[in-house]
Amino acid sequence: MIQDQLKQAVAQAALDHILPHLTRQSIVGVGTGSTANFFIDLLARHRMDFDGAVASSEATAARLRSHGIEVHDLNSIAELEFYVDGADECNGHLELTKGGGGALTREKIVAAVAKTFVCIADESKRVDFLGGFPLPVEVIPMARGHVARQLVMLGGNPVHREGVVTDNGNVILDVYDMRIIDPRQLESDINGIVGVVCNGLFAARPADLLLLGTHNGVEKFG
Ligand code: 5RP
Repeated sequence: MIQDQLKQAVAQAALDHILPHLTRQSIVGVGTGSTANFFIDLLARHRMDFDGAVASSEATAARLRSHGIEVHDLNSIAELEFYVDGADECNGHLELTKGGGGALTREKIVAAVAKTFVCIADESKRVDFLGGFPLPVEVIPMARGHVARQLVMLGGNPVHREGVVTDNGNVILDVYDMRIIDPRQLESDINGIVGVVCNGLFAARPADLLLLGTHNGVEKFG
């Protein structure tokens, strides 16, 4: 199976997982990226069975709306049962690296609100140790140089993602060569650098359920 078929399969598995729990009042949290897009397109077929969605990016909001799915402001939502999103890396503890699409901050916010974070990924994302994928860090523009120097002191090699401005008006540093022994600690350490908005480690709040698309079918973890 090609990678897109694996993404499609995990998107379908996520839909199958959440559908029995949806009511006409339900709001679904929806992530960003190509795997999340497969999920959105499948979810759209059931748009009469739930109220709407909250989106982790402007791109996702636009795709949801193009399907006729109402997009709600997260501030108007008291509770969110499910958040479904992809990942750039996932380890055996369901800790993730995210932000390849630059939406890490809003993704982390929606994940924080959701009771259940369902991560959908193809098997290429499964790793023993996070850090092979360059770790995205969203930074206030005027702090880019300062944050980059601090990241070097933490052992990384930050590279400015040229030409990218996040939905929040910030810039991204992609940190290469970071040895991530303790994802939770590093997530906290990077967030402690003045000027950092958010980093792409999802360890303090890992996924609750990982649906991994493999050539032997969809495997479930968590
Ligand atoms: C976007 C993300 C995505 O979830 C991550 O980049 C995976 O993307 P894809 O499903 O296209 O492989 O974190 O910020």
